[in-house]
Amino acid sequence: MRQFSLIFLLVISVIHTLAVDKNNFKTCDQASFCKRSRSVQHERSPFEVNIDTLIVNPNYINVDLTNKHNGQIFDLKLEGIKGNTFHFEIDEKSPLKPRYRVVDALKGEPTYEAIKVTATGSDITVKCGENKVIIYATPFKLEFYQNDVLTISANSKAKMHFEHLRRKQEAPPPPENENEQNENEAQDQNQDEPGTWEENFKSHHDIKPNGPSAVALDFTFHQANILFGIPEHADSFALKTTVGNGDPYRLYNLDVFEYELNSRMALYGSIPVVYGHGHKSTSGIYWQNAAETWVDIAGTASEQNVMESIVSFVAGSRQQDAPSAHFISESGIIDVFVVLGPSPNDAFKQYTALTGSGNLPQMFAIGYHQCRWNYNDQQDVMQVATKFDEHDIPMDTMWLDIEYTDSKKYFTWDHQKFPNAVEMMKNLTNMGRHLTFIIDPHIKRDSGYFFHNDCTDRGYYIKNKDGKDYEGWCWPGSASYPDFFDPEIRKYYADQYLLENFKENSRDTGIWNDMNEPSVFNGPEITMPKDNLHYGGWEHRDVHNLYGQMQLVGTFDGLLRRAENELRPFILTRAHFSGTQRYAAVWTGDNAAEWGHLEASIPMCLSLSVAGISFCGADIGGFFGNPETELLYRWYQTGAFIPFFRAHAHIDTKRREPWLYPDDVKLIIRDAIRKRYSFLPLWYTMFYEHERSGLPIMRPLLSQYPLDKNAYNIDNQFMLSDKLLIRPVMQKGASKVDVYFPSRNGDKQADIWYDIDDYRKIERVGVESVTVNTYKVPVYQRGGTIIPRKMRIRRSAILMENDPITLIVAVDSDKRAKGTLYIDDEKSFAYRQGKYLYIEFEFIDGVLSSQLIDETASYTTKVWLERVIIVGLDKVPSSATLRASNNQATQVDIIDASKTAFTIRKPGVSLMEPTWSITLNY
Ligand SMILES: *[C@@H]1O[C@H](CO)[C@@H](O)[C@H](O)[C@H]1NC(C)=O
Repeated sequence: MRQFSLIFLLVISVIHTLAVDKNNFKTCDQASFCKRSRSVQHERSPFEVNIDTLIVNPNYINVDLTNKHNGQIFDLKLEGIKGNTFHFEIDEKSPLKPRYRVVDALKGEPTYEAIKVTATGSDITVKCGENKVIIYATPFKLEFYQNDVLTISANSKAKMHFEHLRRKQEAPPPPENENEQNENEAQDQNQDEPGTWEENFKSHHDIKPNGPSAVALDFTFHQANILFGIPEHADSFALKTTVGNGDPYRLYNLDVFEYELNSRMALYGSIPVVYGHGHKSTSGIYWQNAAETWVDIAGTASEQNVMESIVSFVAGSRQQDAPSAHFISESGIIDVFVVLGPSPNDAFKQYTALTGSGNLPQMFAIGYHQCRWNYNDQQDVMQVATKFDEHDIPMDTMWLDIEYTDSKKYFTWDHQKFPNAVEMMKNLTNMGRHLTFIIDPHIKRDSGYFFHNDCTDRGYYIKNKDGKDYEGWCWPGSASYPDFFDPEIRKYYADQYLLENFKENSRDTGIWNDMNEPSVFNGPEITMPKDNLHYGGWEHRDVHNLYGQMQLVGTFDGLLRRAENELRPFILTRAHFSGTQRYAAVWTGDNAAEWGHLEASIPMCLSLSVAGISFCGADIGGFFGNPETELLYRWYQTGAFIPFFRAHAHIDTKRREPWLYPDDVKLIIRDAIRKRYSFLPLWYTMFYEHERSGLPIMRPLLSQYPLDKNAYNIDNQFMLSDKLLIRPVMQKGASKVDVYFPSRNGDKQADIWYDIDDYRKIERVGVESVTVNTYKVPVYQRGGTIIPRKMRIRRSAILMENDPITLIVAVDSDKRAKGTLYIDDEKSFAYRQGKYLYIEFEFIDGVLSSQLIDETASYTTKVWLERVIIVGLDKVPSSATLRASNNQATQVDIIDASKTAFTIRKPGVSLMEPTWSITLNY
């Protein structure tokens, strides 16, 4: 029996081979700066402000800061920014050499605001609008007040650590750790911790020419119950306590093969913004640093005690300290933006006011994307595209992974498999579809390859520590990596996308920038050595997390110029940093065909969304492995309500196009995709509003229900804008799912919700068990909203451009509702010159009216109003009267009346009419 179960276990472990090899990646203890900084434990911070040195300017102050342990002097600069935001920097007053400052993340210079400064002998108060900062001199501490409420403090836990640049022969500073002072009487540099001046990891040696250079600071969120943010991790939305509980969350862009769930390991992207949320307010810290960063979290619920802490919140007690985040970076300066909310949406907007919002995508990019590694040849591509038509399944974009290239040389095609690439693209265009192909940053070292020769001749590659072109190993074999930090190299790179240079290309193909962490198969932690050298003499250590973004800057410029600035570029990236939303959509990388990965896609995309990246998605079906049928269709149903909607699969997986499954399964998948298309007008409006307001599209429940503590830790539900509540089915064999309906006031005050499929009304706070058949995705429209849809589904999104609109008016308890619709040419930048319609609908007292939000904007469209479905009124009217702009009245019929909804049939009004109204007649 024993024998048998042992064999059984072995078999199981062979089947479940999907597992990350953790040995490839460092722990905090293996990254010497993390280990050193994490253990800093002062009873009293050695940093003190020299108030005598205060210099006051209209928008900022400068003052000196001294480390009493070693006499090092630092410059603190603090400035006020419009919109409840402060910025401060701490750098060495006179460093041995300049330290790296991130300049490519912000969308531009922030809008500064006037400050008023008062100083006493012990502190400095900086007022800005309603807010203030108190800088305490001894010991150094910053307190940020939003409207007189202490919201965030910095260094109140005395963990500030700043390793000034020094020469190796210098005596090291006295030990930072006072408690261990006697044990560590290290007067001799040889007694610096191993790893301080050079470091080994596996077979890799890091020479650290600048020695130790870490910076670290702690932040306490005094009004918060939970912290969230700092993507990208495959973990819960609310951050878990890490102190005394494993490693900190790590931010270091890495290509992690078969990443694991519930993990704080680094993934492909790093966005160092963390928010603290409590029922009184939301605030955030953007730690602007592109070096490897670790974040220790304390005072939040850990996995084990989530329920306990909810109970104690509800009981009004809080045994724990206020939550705090301790940021630790390997190099750079302390460069921090503090956003003070006070609402969650205020805080999200304040972050995107700094780093930008995503550009409105072309309509096709919001449709369904069909990808796999790889579609074999041009016949395969056209056959798959044709099959989507045969099976009446909408699809907008076919994708090509690396195998389309001539031996992984980007900007070339394999002419065996794709002899007529341009014709293939034209054929797709004729079907109303697009193509997206991959261009990775690694460049094959091949003397017959123009790109390699250009980069070699012109010195465009990143250099190794000896100043020679760095060589790594990636898909093409031996490869080098262009230094996208150099504007000249970015221009060269962008030029390669132009049709005159890359002829087998089109004005409108999408580009997929993958492997841009960068991935280096034989490098330390599957990436580039930190002592590699970049433009400006910076080490890779300083800029690592920004590398992928700099590739995107080049790609974006190339795609703009490829179409004479007429078309909005579509780019997908794997690596990301603060500001990536300005250039590209992001997907969650190489996930697996497992139920847990489907579930993880929600908190992963929510974390990215609040960190500015709204255009997020996960590979439908899972990249590694073969999904069971039920998982595949549940994944389609989930993905249909997530901004970036793409199926993708590893080269070793079985083909999984929808028609390869039995008819009943194909029909479920078809239904999910068609549902997505029916909501395209809403999606497009949400993307426009994201560009305009900076608010995320996909939102955690707390964005709309900040007072409902039960909603803080819900990871299997989310909202789209403030309109839809989504609870995807993500469990095998589920016939029921629990849906949580949140509270508006933290108690029993409910919003009204309507099931989008049958308009069933729900008005409650708490969990409802909802029956789900194979087709069902529990999605609810919030009472008080109006949603535009298109009910005539076509082969692709762009073919639906002129189709009529259906409005779903779902009333609140006052029988009112409001909504918006955005219309433009769906592809160009003409909307930035006022060529669009932005319409507001309002339903009050039985009258639906429409007016333009931006009256100066205009656009010629054939789109008209096909029907209005009014949901939640008790009485059905006998007819309705349409009044157009010229006040002419027309009678319209009421049809399909049920207990909860009725339809106003064919009002027929053009959406170009600046104002119109429909009155219900009883
Ligand atoms: C393009 O479409 C035409 C007409 O259907 C077909 O004959 C041709 O083979 C297609 N070419 C490619 C490359 O797909």
